[in-house]
Amino acid sequence: MTKIAVLVSGGGTNLQALIDAQKKGIIKSGEIALVVSNNPNAYALERAKKAGIATAVIPGKEYKDQSEFEAKLVETLETAEIELIVLAGFMRILSENFTSRYTRRIINVHPSLIPSFCGKGFYGLHVHEAALAYGVKVTGATVHFVNEIPDGGEIILQKSVQIRKGDTPEVLQRRVMEQAEWKILPRAVELVSKEMKKKKEGK
Ligand code: GAR
Repeated sequence: MTKIAVLVSGGGTNLQALIDAQKKGIIKSGEIALVVSNNPNAYALERAKKAGIATAVIPGKEYKDQSEFEAKLVETLETAEIELIVLAGFMRILSENFTSRYTRRIINVHPSLIPSFCGKGFYGLHVHEAALAYGVKVTGATVHFVNEIPDGGEIILQKSVQIRKGDTPEVLQRRVMEQAEWKILPRAVELVSKEMKKKKEGK
């Protein structure tokens, strides 16, 4: 079993999709061992507790700088012997110092078809506001490996979603989650966990 940590900052609907996928056996090569939040009030923490998953809170504000925050994060992940890190609505950019420690072992879900509407400043609802302002007819979600370039790592899975007349950013966000994010994130987690498991077993 690949030991997985899910990093969150907010509502945690993607975390919920992962928990449900694990229950249903869609994720079977990995196990969610830890949920880490940089926001003490994240509802995602409640979801983890309800599912009996260990949680850790690392409040960004309490650390002098990014490197101290990341040092605490590394310590937390190492203590739990985490092998795969999943960013599921984690609203903090990680530095190269962190990402280079975990090459092809961090994955992220982003609510657009990368390379559209991604990179610095494109997160959460802003992504959907930008897609609607541009007038694209199709958007979607992407799961990718995380490297030092925000939203720039290798793409694992993508799924498109139609934009409809009269869409608001909130309506579109929900459709992208339901039709794309909650489906491709669990599938990508299983794909990567399975690969990691095979490598460990020397297959
Ligand atoms: C999701 O739409 C996720 O793709 C997005 O934030 C939302 C979090 O929702 N992430 C980013 O924009 C990262 N750049 P959730 O907490 O309910 O999973």
